[in-house]
Amino acid sequence: ARCPLPAGAAAMSASYEVFGRVQGYTEAEARKLGVVGWVKNTSKGTVTGQVQGPEEKVSAMKSWLTKVGSPSSRIDRTNFSNEKEISKLDFSGFSTRY
Ligand SMILES: *[C@@H]1O[C@H](CO)[C@@H](O)[C@H](O)[C@H]1NC(C)=O
Ligand SMILES: *[C@@H]1O[C@H](CO)[C@@H](O)[C@H](O)[C@H]1NC(C)=O
Repeated sequence: ARCPLPAGAAAMSASYEVFGRVQGYTEAEARKLGVVGWVKNTSKGTVTGQVQGPEEKVSAMKSWLTKVGSPSSRIDRTNFSNEKEISKLDFSGFSTRY
């Protein structure tokens, strides 16, 4: 279900790329936090995607992608791009792309 944004609340969107193996955990964490977007493995062994949601949730997700990642925490680094405020979400859930 599309999670409605509270009136007046700022929503954020960000693209990310994690240099580490965290794909399955990313989807689980995104669902737990309630952000929307997608995740996918790249052919160069990184994990990339987009995350959108209320500002504090996106911020929590970004911090997880940067510092926590997976139980064994094999993150070398994470970069973010296209960070912007949005007025509506482009996704209705969080999914894995192939
Ligand atoms: C992350 O950085 C790499 C270069 O190191 C760049 O090619 C890639 O587009 C960046 N990804 C994002 C989502 O910013
Ligand atoms: C992505 O890579 C991980 C291992 O790094 C693997 O467990 C997972 O199944 C892969 N997912 C996709 C969609 O290819």
